[in-house]
Amino acid sequence: MASHPPHRFCCEEDLARLGYDGLNAKADLARWREGKLHAPTRELIEVVRREGVDGARVLDIGAGVGAVHISLLEAGALAAIDVDASRAYLATARTEAERRGLAGRVEYRYGDVVELTDELQSAEIVTLDSVICCYPYLEPLLAAATRSGPRLVGITYPRDVWWMRAYMRLYNLVQAVRRSPARYFIHRHADVERWMGGNGYTSAHEGGIRVWRVVLYRRAAAER
Ligand SMILES: C[S@@+](CC[C@H](N)C(=O)[O-])C[C@H]1O[C@@H](n2cnc3c(N)ncnc32)[C@H](O)[C@@H]1O
Repeated sequence: MASHPPHRFCCEEDLARLGYDGLNAKADLARWREGKLHAPTRELIEVVRREGVDGARVLDIGAGVGAVHISLLEAGALAAIDVDASRAYLATARTEAERRGLAGRVEYRYGDVVELTDELQSAEIVTLDSVICCYPYLEPLLAAATRSGPRLVGITYPRDVWWMRAYMRLYNLVQAVRRSPARYFIHRHADVERWMGGNGYTSAHEGGIRVWRVVLYRRAAAER
């Protein structure tokens, strides 16, 4: 894994490459309201809730329409930080939080979390739901997620099997032909495990669906 990103996502057009899928915000919100959240998202919320969220601050990186942190706030978390590279997703998440009377408990930050990490308040719970697959540099992203030493880190991402790699290559090719900046990345589960293990985290849950993995890490010092 590269330890330093060769490219910084600092400006509007760079961030558009990460947050391009804000274009799906309306559809994502409609699916959530219809009770059709992506199964790995539901599983992530459930496994985090089971660990206990009362009074916790949640850092929801790439929160999209906000399903994870809004659900955790409704389950007893105290506050949340939504960091997203997409203005469209941030606006949608804020509108939904306002509708549920929760927006006052959420701080919204636009940008690449790797660039913003030093400015963020510490959080006890960090989630990355379908986010590491949008970002080319795994290690800096995990470093940003764990900078404040959260008790729990929950991640969902595509399984690193050959057919998912083949699918993502084809997807990226189609996007390139369409001149869309959108790209997906399949990071190795072994690299996630190695990095988290090397930084004091142990696996508390591993599940998911055929194509998507759901993992939850607990900080070793926070073991029950
Ligand atoms: C595929 S969407 C997932 C949204 C939501 N978590 C869900 O599962 O429905 C990926 C999101 O991550 C955001 N994102 C990707 N890399 C990011 C980064 N380095 N910092 C902040 N947001 C990022 C994108 O802007 C986008 O909103």
